[in-house]
Amino acid sequence: MSKKITLLELQQKKEAGQPITMLTAYDYPSATLVDEAGTDIILVGDSLAMTMLGHDDTTAVTMDEMLHHCKAVKRGANHAVLVGDMPFMSYQISKSESIRNAGRFIKEGGMDTVKLEGGREVIDMVRAIINAGIPVMGHLGLTPQTATKLGGYKVQAKTADSAQRLTEDALALQEAGCYAIVIEAVPVLVAEAVSKKLRIPTIGIGAGVHCDGQVLVFHDMLGLFDRFTPKFVKRYSNLRPRILNALRSYNEEVATRQFPAQAHSFKIDEAEMELFLYGGKNGSGETV
Ligand code: KIV
Repeated sequence: MSKKITLLELQQKKEAGQPITMLTAYDYPSATLVDEAGTDIILVGDSLAMTMLGHDDTTAVTMDEMLHHCKAVKRGANHAVLVGDMPFMSYQISKSESIRNAGRFIKEGGMDTVKLEGGREVIDMVRAIINAGIPVMGHLGLTPQTATKLGGYKVQAKTADSAQRLTEDALALQEAGCYAIVIEAVPVLVAEAVSKKLRIPTIGIGAGVHCDGQVLVFHDMLGLFDRFTPKFVKRYSNLRPRILNALRSYNEEVATRQFPAQAHSFKIDEAEMELFLYGGKNGSGETV
């Protein structure tokens, strides 16, 4: 899979009614897998604070940590659109700081675009970043960086008023120039109505089947993160117990000297060994 997907192609997918696929990846191996599977968009999500770094929520991750992961993902992907997730407090303080941080995702992290959370409250920052030439993906509904303010990890837009506010935020982001918007943990019918109102694609997570695309977290969908699993996650595999089994087998085989076997070991010519033991030059130089 080598042809790079463009933002225009994502827009064309919406117009043709073809669902867009997006997954997170956080390092070189996950990026190669997600890219080779033909995924349209790879998000280096700030969810890595939890899945990769073991934090309780996403607020702790820093710009430098995000960039470290972005660089690895960039080396593993050449097909998908790459999105760097702007961490908490990297785009709230001032327009100039937001532009500088978004620029680092492009220049240092090798990302194609950035994503940030929020609606009209961050619209000046969104405009500033887009005016600086950096495409922005929005994120509405359940916004994990401000989950405390929202009263926890709860379904959003469940009342007529809050559904209306979400719609207005989505329209404002579109007007500001966003190329797509993630909609998280929102009732199916609300996400459908918003998706129909917008020209740009919506990417749903816990927002039903009518969004223009879907996103899941790599560790959630593969069963690699077991602290909790939101209702909207479908587990396509359960790798954690399988990996644990493999690791336990290794420990057992080392302890009982079953590993390494002859097949994993190298030989030396007998004469060379004699020379080595009783005087002369060292080993044969067999290739590993
Ligand atoms: O950080 C992340 O992984 C995300 C997705 C859940 C959309 O923002």
